[in-house]
Amino acid sequence: MKYQVHSSKTLDKKTDCLVLAVWEKTGPAQCSLLDESLAALAGAVFKAGDIKGKAGETLLIPAHSHAKAERLLLVGAGDAAKFTAKVYRKVVRAAAQAINKTTSKTAVFTLPQLTVSDRDLSWAVTQLVMENSNSQYRYDHTKSKKAEPLHLKTVSLALPATANRKAVDEAILAGECISKGMTLTRELGNLPGNICTPSYLGDKATELAGQYKSLKAKVLNEKQMEKLGMGSLLSVGNGSKEESRLIVLEYKGAADSASSPYCLVGKGITFDTGGISLKPGLGMDEMKYDMCGAASVLGTMLAVAELGLPINVVAIIASAENMPSSTATKPGDVVTSMSGKTIEILNTDAEGRLVLCDALTYAERFKPKTVIDVATLTGAAVATFGEVNTALLSNHDPLAKELLELGQQTLDHVWQLPMNDEYQALLDSNFADIANIGGPKGGTITAACFLSRFTEKFKWAHLDIAGTAWLSGAQKGATGRPVPLLVEYLRRQKA
Ligand code: BES
Ligand code: MN
Ligand code: ZN
Repeated sequence: MKYQVHSSKTLDKKTDCLVLAVWEKTGPAQCSLLDESLAALAGAVFKAGDIKGKAGETLLIPAHSHAKAERLLLVGAGDAAKFTAKVYRKVVRAAAQAINKTTSKTAVFTLPQLTVSDRDLSWAVTQLVMENSNSQYRYDHTKSKKAEPLHLKTVSLALPATANRKAVDEAILAGECISKGMTLTRELGNLPGNICTPSYLGDKATELAGQYKSLKAKVLNEKQMEKLGMGSLLSVGNGSKEESRLIVLEYKGAADSASSPYCLVGKGITFDTGGISLKPGLGMDEMKYDMCGAASVLGTMLAVAELGLPINVVAIIASAENMPSSTATKPGDVVTSMSGKTIEILNTDAEGRLVLCDALTYAERFKPKTVIDVATLTGAAVATFGEVNTALLSNHDPLAKELLELGQQTLDHVWQLPMNDEYQALLDSNFADIANIGGPKGGTITAACFLSRFTEKFKWAHLDIAGTAWLSGAQKGATGRPVPLLVEYLRRQKA
């Protein structure tokens, strides 16, 4: 997909599709790109009531006779007085989906000319590019019939007269890079567990490092992890014939290559049966998505490398397959983590924290500026927030605050949960330093409390994406979240 700026005030070159907003109250948006005949056409269908202007509503009008646009795509934008960032996203998404149903090769979007409350033009451009590129993602890796190639090749953005071209170009690039990262994240998430194994994720990281000079990959096998004392991580893969992996992907973009990095840690359980504490069968297939934390970390690294951000970033992925078998870890087993702390595994289905704790201890060696872990960690996060908000927990309030704000900014929403000391006692064990579950109450919080025992040496935030990483039902598929949030966070950091 090629994105370019439509710099002329009129529609001087022919386009296959001109996209125009329609307001609920006042009808088609004013735009110099419409000649008299197109403006009359848009006005007439609004008057006739064929489009009401409700946010996200679309109407495609063949406009062959109107020389400069083969099609006019009208898209409802709702009430102009309530044109928020979220409505803008809805409008852009609806337009992109509608164009994909046509054979248009080129399109001119006039939507960036609309003023979005609380957002600047750069935001609107990034959002449009991101949504449009994301709308083109098709999963076909394991289908014998491959997805039809898409027609749309060139998107032109018509900008307001005041636009700063340099800022717009940067915003286009950001949208493209974030979308690339999300696409990788979605693809890895959607791949079945018999393809996307821990070693597959390791190979993917190595492949990324081959594609970007700024990336370096190191993939540790079980023997190497044993040497490091990662008894907790290794216990999760005990029941599986798939070998576990610790994947380290380093990005160097700072002028000073020794400058301390930002660290991302991802949960990469490539399938979570629950282990001996077996999960119920209904919907268990969705536990192939239990590596979405890892996938989002890889997607973010891809975006960071594409953008060439002037910072250093380290990604650490803890990957294993959680299976029941005669060699599997059993409830009551006690393991020793890399930190030296012993853990009583009361429930083998609380495996995410067991792999993450060793990855978090491993992160210490990088003396990171901040550490953000991303994990499909608890069903309780789904119960609490549904698929709307990612759960955020942190040991450093300014970091939590920043992520909360950026969640609003990117519309990749997060909401913070508390971590009062009182919850920590729920993890007490009679037989080890700490138990791996805290009982039936406050599941997302006690999971984070477990992790907090391994993050005392740095500023840390935890993102529980159990509800937001994928959609269920007819729309089943990975979302690519929280790549937009993570990339935006890293874009704003300094070396
Ligand atoms: N991967 C699951 C969490 C999960 C469940 C994510 C459903 C998305 C949808 C995690 O490993 C898990 O099984 N957590 C348990 C923890 C419990 C045993 C303390 C859970 O949430 O039930
Ligand atoms: Mn589990
Ligand atoms: Zn899990």
